[in-house]
Parts: sequence; structure tokens; C-alpha cells
Amino acid sequence: MSSLTTTLAKVILIPLATALSLVAWGPAVAPAVAAPVSASATVSTSQVHVAAVKKYKMATVKKHKTAKSCWTVVGTGVYDLTKWIKKHPGGSRAILSLCGKNGTKAFRAQHGSTGAAARALAKYKIGKLA
Ligand code: HEM
Repeated sequence: MSSLTTTLAKVILIPLATALSLVAWGPAVAPAVAAPVSASATVSTSQVHVAAVKKYKMATVKKHKTAKSCWTVVGTGVYDLTKWIKKHPGGSRAILSLCGKNGTKAFRAQHGSTGAAARALAKYKIGKLA
């Protein structure tokens, strides 16, 4: 009789206790699983923000020295002037002379730091000097 009671206890009580403990853990486990998902969404948003300001070494700028790809530096900014070469009211040669170089002195000597030329320049900014 006592062994029957023991068997009954094993067959009914143990699975019942296991099921109840799972129900009890359920709500506690659920937020723990959900939390990392929303945390990773926040991280990816901030990564997009960081990627917005690119940094380039002068060695990289120097590679873009032709009319096919013309980058220059003015101040701390890096500019891709490729599409501006043919648009420049002062002629294409003035822009070509800046490709792959630090164009700060040449640009400021001709145009200063404010006005139409500075506004045109701002549209071609691709990043900052590393
Ligand atoms: C670095 C990029 C440059 C940009 C974005 C730029 C932009 C401009 C803009 C918007 C104008 C028309 C408005 C104005 O006269 O201010 C202009 C005119 C002119 N630019 Fe530039 N410029 C650049 C570089 C240079 C350089 C390096 C030189 C000379 C070495 C130069 C020489 C001139 C001249 C002579 C004019 C007057 C053209 C005329 O109306 O007769 N520019 N530039």
C-alpha cells in the first residue's frame, strides 16, 4: 500500500509540481526575454547616429585628386567637389587645383569664410578630417 502511495506521488505530484513551477516562472521569464530586444533596438539607433559623421585621413583625401573624384579639405571639413567642378562660376581650373589637397588657404583667400561660396561648399561636405 505504501509503495502504491509512493508511486502515485511520483506519477501525479511530481509532474503537477513541475507544471505549477513553470506557470509561476512564466511571467518572470517573459520580461527578461523581451528586455534585450528593446535594448538592442536602442543601440542600433545610436549606431546610425554615430555613422552620420564620417572621418577621413588626409592620406585618403590625397587619393581623390582627379576630375573623376575630387576631394578637398577646407578647415576641418572634407568635401567631395567632383560635381562642382563644372558648376563653379570661377571656372573648373580653380576647383581642379584643389583636388586631393588641403584647399583651405586657396578657398579662404578667394572667398573668405561666409557668403555664397561658403554656402555652396557646405552642400558638398562628406565628413571631417580624422
Ligand atoms: C573650394 C571650393 C569653392 C567653392 C565652393 C566656390 C564657390 C563659388 C561660388 C558660389 C561662386 C559665385 C559667387 C561668388 O562669387 O561668391 C564663386 C565664384 C568665383 N570663384 Fe569660387 N569657389 C571655390 C573655390 C575657388 C577657388 C580656389 C578660386 C580661385 C583660386 C575661386 C575663384 C572664383 C572666382 C574668380 C569667382 C568669380 C567668378 C565670376 O563671377 O566672375 N573659387 N565660387
